[in-house]
Amino acid sequence: MAEPTKQGEPKQGEPILQVENVWYRYLGRFPALAGVSLAVYPGEFLAVLGANGSGKSTLLRLLAGLIHPERGRVRAFGVELRPETLEDAAFGPAFRARVGVLFQNPDSQLFNATVEEEIAFAPLQMGLDDGEVARRVEAMLALLDLGHLRDRPPFQLSGGEKKRVALAAVLAQGPEVLLLDEPMAGLDPRSQDHLADLLAELHRHGRTIVMATHDLEAVRLLAGRVVVLGEDHRVAADGPPEAILQDTALLRAANLISARGRRSRD
Ligand SMILES: Nc1ncnc2c1ncn2[C@@H]1O[C@H](COP(=O)(O)OP(=O)(O)OP(=O)(O)O)[C@@H](O)[C@H]1O
Ligand SMILES: [Mg+2]
Repeated sequence: MAEPTKQGEPKQGEPILQVENVWYRYLGRFPALAGVSLAVYPGEFLAVLGANGSGKSTLLRLLAGLIHPERGRVRAFGVELRPETLEDAAFGPAFRARVGVLFQNPDSQLFNATVEEEIAFAPLQMGLDDGEVARRVEAMLALLDLGHLRDRPPFQLSGGEKKRVALAAVLAQGPEVLLLDEPMAGLDPRSQDHLADLLAELHRHGRTIVMATHDLEAVRLLAGRVVVLGEDHRVAADGPPEAILQDTALLRAANLISARGRRSRD
């Protein structure tokens, strides 16, 4: 992966997102998060590292207001994310517009007849005029190198192409916070480099980014801070990437490097 320029981390003001002692089990019995707390500050690029099943996607779903904790609280922009606050006519739509989510499986967010319509969907929902919608569609097609696929049905595309369409659709909405679940996974080397540059650029322009991954190289290149989720579904570490990526005992305990020292890639 090529080396994008990493920004220093501004850690100032009130947290933009906050998770306080959150517990979550699926179906009331499969543990996913066990007493997790963390705060995300405006302008941070936070990587959430953890082995399969440690709870990364669950944490992003909670931050996106798609599920709610059994115990503890999740807050965004100072407001607790609960079904009632998300249904509020002022807060709900504003929250959805400000926070863009890229799911681990792009199939769960592609539902339009063509790539172009997929990208236009959120801007149209936001009530933007036709000229602005067309401008955003062209910009996103160019940004994610999708021009040649504009008339194709998203469900017929390859995994990596679907991921790029899903990201284009999320970015077209112009969110200030991006919750990205393994954005590099399944992309070929050129697309990975391109995406790494794009994420670094979005971050430089002030986006707050939370990225779940087990790709240590992507963390090294991009993140300003790392939270490691252990296989016990708790926060095993929270700190600068330089320190965490050197901590072999921690990485081994969190199942991020193999006993033979091999590093995890997406
Ligand atoms: N729909 C579900 N029903 C039941 N259990 C689930 C469901 N989704 C996740 N889990 C369980 O919750 C735990 C956390 O899952 P999660 O998907 O958050 O992990 P992850 O860190 O994102 O893993 P991966 O690296 O494989 O994407 C796992 O033990 C998983 O089996
Ligand atoms: Mg996951």
